[in-house]
Amino acid sequence: AFDISSLRDQTGYVTLDRGYKNTGATQSGITFLDGEEGILRYRGYSIEDLASKATFLEVSYLLIYGELPTAEQYETFVNSIRRHTLVNEDMRKIFDGFPVNAHPMCVLASLVSAMSAFYPDSHEGNGNTDQHIIRLLAKLPTIATWSYKRSLGHPTNYPKNNLDYIPNFLNMMFALPVEEYKVDPVVAEALNVLLILHADHEQNCSTSTVRLVGSSQANIYSSISAGIQALWGPLHGGANQEVIEMLEDIKADGGDVGKYIDMAKNAKTTGFRLFGFGHRVYKNFDPRAKIIKKAADDVLNKLGVNDPVLEIAKGLEEAALNDPYFVQRKLYPNVDFYSGIIYRALGIPTNMFTVMFAIGRLPGWIAQWKEMREQKEPIGRPRQIYTGATLREFVPLENR
Ligand code: ACO
Repeated sequence: AFDISSLRDQTGYVTLDRGYKNTGATQSGITFLDGEEGILRYRGYSIEDLASKATFLEVSYLLIYGELPTAEQYETFVNSIRRHTLVNEDMRKIFDGFPVNAHPMCVLASLVSAMSAFYPDSHEGNGNTDQHIIRLLAKLPTIATWSYKRSLGHPTNYPKNNLDYIPNFLNMMFALPVEEYKVDPVVAEALNVLLILHADHEQNCSTSTVRLVGSSQANIYSSISAGIQALWGPLHGGANQEVIEMLEDIKADGGDVGKYIDMAKNAKTTGFRLFGFGHRVYKNFDPRAKIIKKAADDVLNKLGVNDPVLEIAKGLEEAALNDPYFVQRKLYPNVDFYSGIIYRALGIPTNMFTVMFAIGRLPGWIAQWKEMREQKEPIGRPRQIYTGATLREFVPLENR
């Protein structure tokens, strides 16, 4: 029988909810999510509508400021971002201190954290928040692509501010000194959809981290840097890299999806989970995965890419959806399952997948940080149930 006294601490009864499976940490007006019905909306607009009709920066504005921008507001927003894409030359020197094979997520989080040193007004009374928001949106793609270029040992590309947000990112990522890089509109459009699908997801692990860190009144750069670190974990955004590595392993292993399904069914003993499957909130289907699966087919067709890993992914999905273990536990493909296949087709290397997620999630983190501050939320401070030793007498070192 459950012993209620196990939930008692010095001051009274404490709700224990490991992993916050059923605990609301805030009220929020940003993202609506219905896990049973598979519904996702940003500020009331359906994800399906936004992904097919909006630009990523329009969606960013919507998330951060609550309404879709008018044409004039949009122009001002986009132009401000254009003017802030350069990264301080002293910040460039920080890149040189990293080992060449440093993971781009580590470099990204460190450089975003370093931004608070370059914009000290962010922690001296928080400064002009709108300006910090513009800087973050403008500089994240620059920092991201530089971390990648560094991992290759290639020279970095400066932003070209006559290009739009996504083409500018692609140019910094792929342009080489020897030849003119032309942005393929199919690639830019696919990236636009992927970034929108990742832009917010209410109180997930990284967003909760951003809000929790920010609740101590830590500055926006530090808070977002903490969110990037949380995103990197393989159970969260890091899953997109794990998925493609898992699919590659299955391919190298002769394509036997059944073997991997069996391993995942025995996750408790094998320690192996099917990456890209399962979600804390979606217990029916992940609406983002539905859009991404279709986009993966479209993009590969349009680009003429034949990736055998896509067939393995589809086979794995079908086998899982027909297996009682996955059905009973309501484990469906999540946003990370097919996104990596598209990134690969677009030429984005595996160690940049989670960085792509971070670029997409940035407006959501910003919106949530801003809302948390505007709602004047108290400092986040969970309770605990102490299970350690009772009072013990200190034993001097020589007697132990
Ligand atoms: N493969 C095999 N079994 C799984 C998987 C999986 N991918 N996910 C959950 N299970 C099983 C668990 O072993 C558990 O089984 P049990 O009932 O026999 O104990 C049951 O399903 C419930 O799992 P929990 O871990 O309790 O579910 P939780 O809500 O805590 O975890 C999570 C959700 C972390 C997403 C989990 O499903 C998982 O680890 N998935 C793989 C990693 C992944 O794809 N992460 C990306 C999520 S989306 C995102 O963050 C952007």
